[in-house]
Amino acid sequence: PDPERDRLLSAYELSAKFYHFLLKNTEYGTAAMNYLRSRNFSDKMIDQFQIGFAPDRWDTLLQFLEKRGFDLAEMEKGGLLSARGEGKGYIDRFRGRVIFPIANRTGKVVAFAGRILGDGQPKYLNSAESRIFNKSRILYNLHQSKASIRKMRQIVLFEGYGDVISAWEAGVHNGVATMGTSLTESHVALMKSLADEIVLSYDGDKAGQAAALKAIPMLEESGLRVKVAVLPGGMDPDEFISRHGAESFMERIIDSAVSAIKFKLIYLKKNHILLEEDGKIAYVKEALQIIATLHSSTEREVYLREISSELELSYDSLKQDCNLLRASMQ
Ligand code: CTP
Ligand code: MN
Ligand code: MN
Ligand code: MN
Ligand code: MN
Repeated sequence: PDPERDRLLSAYELSAKFYHFLLKNTEYGTAAMNYLRSRNFSDKMIDQFQIGFAPDRWDTLLQFLEKRGFDLAEMEKGGLLSARGEGKGYIDRFRGRVIFPIANRTGKVVAFAGRILGDGQPKYLNSAESRIFNKSRILYNLHQSKASIRKMRQIVLFEGYGDVISAWEAGVHNGVATMGTSLTESHVALMKSLADEIVLSYDGDKAGQAAALKAIPMLEESGLRVKVAVLPGGMDPDEFISRHGAESFMERIIDSAVSAIKFKLIYLKKNHILLEEDGKIAYVKEALQIIATLHSSTEREVYLREISSELELSYDSLKQDCNLLRASMQ
């Protein structure tokens, strides 16, 4: 028995309900509701993900918790309140923010992420880490997706809450997100215990693609198969779905996810100017480094032939260079 833990879990559960109620049923929530609608969040998803709103006031949650007899110092330690700047006392940690409750794998709310309405810094404010919340271990939405994950032995990994939610509505029921792009060994171990394959669906911008590149070896080293869903034009999955719809997302992005090798080659190509000789040679050199690591000669042939035809280089010379590289790698 751990009464402090139970009190904190109970505070989060009640606070999540409270913020959800404020969003949906009070005037405090009107602007936030309009904001969510403008971003195409449906009522159904707002309910299912228990999205809420924390009004832009100092003591909304404070009073709510106080009335219910919670110890405020304990609530501050648990990440729901903040210590007042000067003197004693507490204030609401989340003010003027859309609230995304973050649940652990059994479905208990253990933290909040608060998004500012529109622009401003920081874009997201999270609960402080606490005895019930460890950011580097949690996967957002695992409690709702784990049934599908077990069945499919596959996880679609996103960067953001909005991506998970929009993708869920589009039909991806095995999606989770880390809280940002930093994937930890604990996340990897957890995913490895539930699935055989990861579809990386990070943002299409530079940061997201670089994070995907970094995640691939971590996932592969654990024995997971990795595919990458590539987003065009720097969009993130949520933006893509808003713009092009669910069907297009499923067909053009999720079902068209490419192998890790293919993704590395696509990424490499974006960073070289292939119209110039130098760029072309540098690209081929780096591409061969990647292809040479493939154990299957059939796989190597597939990618070498692709490069051969797109750059108008002879397959034989590519193969020769690739084999030389392989010999030097042994
Ligand atoms: N993140 C964070 N704090 C920030 C920025 C990002 O914790 N200041 C985390 C959040 O978990 C966020 C994820 O990183 O969901 C991805 O960041 P980003 O792509 O910038 O945000 P989006 O999820 O796309 O948010 P939105 O669509 O609301 O702009
Ligand atoms: Mn509801
Ligand atoms: Mn991003
Ligand atoms: Mn994003
Ligand atoms: Mn987004």
